Amino acid sequence: MGFISILGCAQKLVSERVQPGEPVIDATVGNGVDTLFLSKLTGCKGEVYGFDVQQIALEKAARRWQQDPGKKAGVHWLNCSHAEMKSIVSPHHHGHIAAIMFNLGYLPGADPGTITLPASTLAALQSSVELLRIGGILTVVLYTGHPGGQEEADAVEEWAAKLNPKSFQVIKYERVNQSKRPPYLIAVEKVAPCD
Ligand SMILES: C[S@@+](CC[C@H](N)C(=O)[O-])C[C@H]1O[C@@H](n2cnc3c(N)ncnc32)[C@H](O)[C@@H]1O
Repeated sequence: MGFISILGCAQKLVSERVQPGEPVIDATVGNGVDTLFLSKLTGCKGEVYGFDVQQIALEKAARRWQQDPGKKAGVHWLNCSHAEMKSIVSPHHHGHIAAIMFNLGYLPGADPGTITLPASTLAALQSSVELLRIGGILTVVLYTGHPGGQEEADAVEEWAAKLNPKSFQVIKYERVNQSKRPPYLIAVEKVAPCD
């Protein structure tokens, strides 16, 4: 049978927490797999914010969403960095976001030079924990196999390890006996208001 995949685990943790109608964020739209998942999960009354710096990725993802008969919530397709999310997400959603998903690295099949970078990733993660509601979840899938990936993963882990345990629970899900460098997941649940 085997354990649930890294991406499957991120979706499972998110689906256990999001209630119908809640606002959610896909911080790295890419091919739009998580965006579509979030649209179905939060339902017709929900709202999805989808960020990507590549217009071509957003267009492909929007087509995927458009063509899927199971789509529900509408998506704000945002061609800008997730580092700007705090100024873009509607103020009435601040503190009410139920889930934020990050899938770092580069988009397979697209420009391998367009990768997520530590400075903007950390800025976006910090905004994310502020935007979440109590009981909301942040998932981050990390890749270390590409140039710069290990540095970014180290920076994210260092940031996550410093989150106040009174406000946040942090877990890591990873395969430990692989010879290659498989992706892994860090998930953060906001359990109490930040200081
Ligand atoms: C691994 S892919 C995401 C895969 C996606 N979750 C899917 O379902 O296909 C990473 C994406 O992050 C995007 N990206 C890179 N830097 C970004 C930034 N600062 N803000 C938002 N997106 C960014 C890339 O353009 C790329 O599409």
